Amino acid sequence: MTRPPVACLVALALVLPLTGSACGENGSGVPGQGAATTDSAARTTADRSESPDDRSGTPNDVPDTTRVILVTGSTGGLGREVARRLAAGGARVIVHGRDVERGTGLVREIETSGAGSARFFRADFAHLDSVRALADSVRRHYDRLDVLVNNAGILLGTAERPVSSDGHELHFQVNYLAGYLLTHELLPLLKRSAPARVVNVSSRSADPIDFDDVMLESGYSAGRAYGQSKLAQIMFTFTLAERLEGSGVTVNALHPASLMDTDLVKDIGMEPRSSVAEGARAVMHLIDGEDVGTGHYYRRMERARAPEAQAYDGEARARLDSISRELTGLPPAGGS
Ligand SMILES: NC(=O)c1ccc[n+]([C@@H]2O[C@H](COP(=O)([O-])OP(=O)(O)OC[C@H]3O[C@@H](n4cnc5c(N)ncnc54)[C@H](OP(=O)(O)O)[C@@H]3O)[C@@H](O)[C@H]2O)c1
Repeated sequence: MTRPPVACLVALALVLPLTGSACGENGSGVPGQGAATTDSAARTTADRSESPDDRSGTPNDVPDTTRVILVTGSTGGLGREVARRLAAGGARVIVHGRDVERGTGLVREIETSGAGSARFFRADFAHLDSVRALADSVRRHYDRLDVLVNNAGILLGTAERPVSSDGHELHFQVNYLAGYLLTHELLPLLKRSAPARVVNVSSRSADPIDFDDVMLESGYSAGRAYGQSKLAQIMFTFTLAERLEGSGVTVNALHPASLMDTDLVKDIGMEPRSSVAEGARAVMHLIDGEDVGTGHYYRRMERARAPEAQAYDGEARARLDSISRELTGLPPAGGS
């Protein structure tokens, strides 16, 4: 297998607007698919209490008004930094990822810091059942959800098109479809907790959705798969924000920072150019900022135009929504 020009792949995926076919379809041969465990979301013993109705130290008869915030993909990189900051501000943080050691390590760190609290839920977004199980665990263990940060993401330099256990192109599933499903599963809880927020960690990278080949069965490249999944997050943001108008739940997407010092960047052999602190600042702005509104795309701290015109095509957004409902088994629009 031929290794792709990594700088090219990253330019496509993380930094530059797409420039077409410059990177071709070859990949690096890095082992592809996300860990194909058959586990569903499994609660670990990371949190302070073993009780299923744990309220993180609050007396049983006093409703806990402390904010509950779920950050997907918070076992490392940007998500971990955001989780640390949220806990430092006193929030009850739901840490999520696949890596139990890193997840429980972060929970221990937060619990010993004396500020905020945390618990870890494991779920592999390469399995939609695992996403459903995560939503179920969150609903069972919490009576509120103030903010959902859809951050978990991958960029794999594989030559071969990676496919999820559900049969979908893996970037599309892990970066977009899993967050789409999780958000819909948790919408009733978010609505009950309003004012509440959904923050979709997208990118500046964007590739238009090819509705004739959404799963990129022909013409696959990692850059294209990543870009398509990241644009889908933005399109979802615009659609959902419209639908939730007046509900007290706001939805925004952002490009946090370019080439942050995370595994995602290092694993494809790139030199980081910014820190997770910079990206985390931008995410925190959408979580806490007073003037962020709803239905917007932010480039770091600034409201910006989405990186691809398709985001403003209402028909394309409706089509993506309807495909996503079908792929995740959600009922047709109107019910959420
Ligand atoms: N890094 C950048 O420069 C950059 C630029 C623009 C946008 N972004 C976006 O920022 C977000 C975070 O990226 P990062 O750079 O912080 O990446 P990272 O360091 O690789 O972290 C990715 C996180 O996602 C989780 N994850 C990966 N695959 C998963 C799966 N199959 N199921 C569940 N969780 C999974 C990982 O958890 P486990 O390892 O525990 O599974 C980890 O916590 C991504 O959405 C990315 O697209 C990053």
